[in-house]
Amino acid sequence: MHWPAEAVWEAVAPLLPGFTVEVLPQLDSTNSELMRRARTGQSDPILLVAEQQTAGRGRLGRGWQSAAGDSLTFSLGLALAPADWSGLSLAVGVSLAESLHPALRLKWPNDLWLDDRKLGGILIETASFGAGGGRYAVIGVGLNVAPPAAQGLSTPPASLRELLPYAQAPDVLQLVAAPLVADLLRFAQAGFAPFHARFDARDALAGRAVTLSDGSAGIARGVGETGSLLVHTAAGLQAVSSSEVSVRPAAP
Ligand code: BTN
Repeated sequence: MHWPAEAVWEAVAPLLPGFTVEVLPQLDSTNSELMRRARTGQSDPILLVAEQQTAGRGRLGRGWQSAAGDSLTFSLGLALAPADWSGLSLAVGVSLAESLHPALRLKWPNDLWLDDRKLGGILIETASFGAGGGRYAVIGVGLNVAPPAAQGLSTPPASLRELLPYAQAPDVLQLVAAPLVADLLRFAQAGFAPFHARFDARDALAGRAVTLSDGSAGIARGVGETGSLLVHTAAGLQAVSSSEVSVRPAAP
């Protein structure tokens, strides 16, 4: 595969001094690798791509499986010091969806969806970094480019080729990388506010019946100022943060 490492570097380096791009044929997980490096004091901004991951990780302790060529798997590591971290994963989803296609929707907190099927996911981890409250953020992104082999999932995943028939993982990286860095810097300055309306425009759950993992149910009513999911339940309007519950649309 030919990766646009130079083009990505040229677009991003002016925004992030010291930025590097690294593409490796195989890794356990790009997130794990950048977290290991952060623990040994390597905190320069980097985009790390793995053509194949052998132990890709998803949110909530799940795995992320992908075959070489069928999927784009990368992590962006950079020091960030936003006044408030809430809503970061939503901002990342907004950025990716806007860079890729108008048909993509966001399933709170941070899945990319096409027609109610998962097309991509985001795993954000942070490591403490020096003095002064800034942290090194590792923003991991997995996007299905070609249809993944059946994984025994009840809803088969979606892939970008449904929208962009000739898409290859390197093209997809070029589409998303520089806008993602620009959006992360915007988030560090201004928090979730500049992403709120943009999230609303792609909210896959708004107005739909949802079930929360704590067993309660209600109607999703968009997100609050810090990106929490607003759900109208029998007990009234509840603001749900991603650390508390997961959410799925109720069966129609
Ligand atoms: C999820 O949907 O639960 C999040 C999936 C995140 C997958 C990406 S692939 C690149 C990076 N490295 C990992 O191990 N995970 C993230």
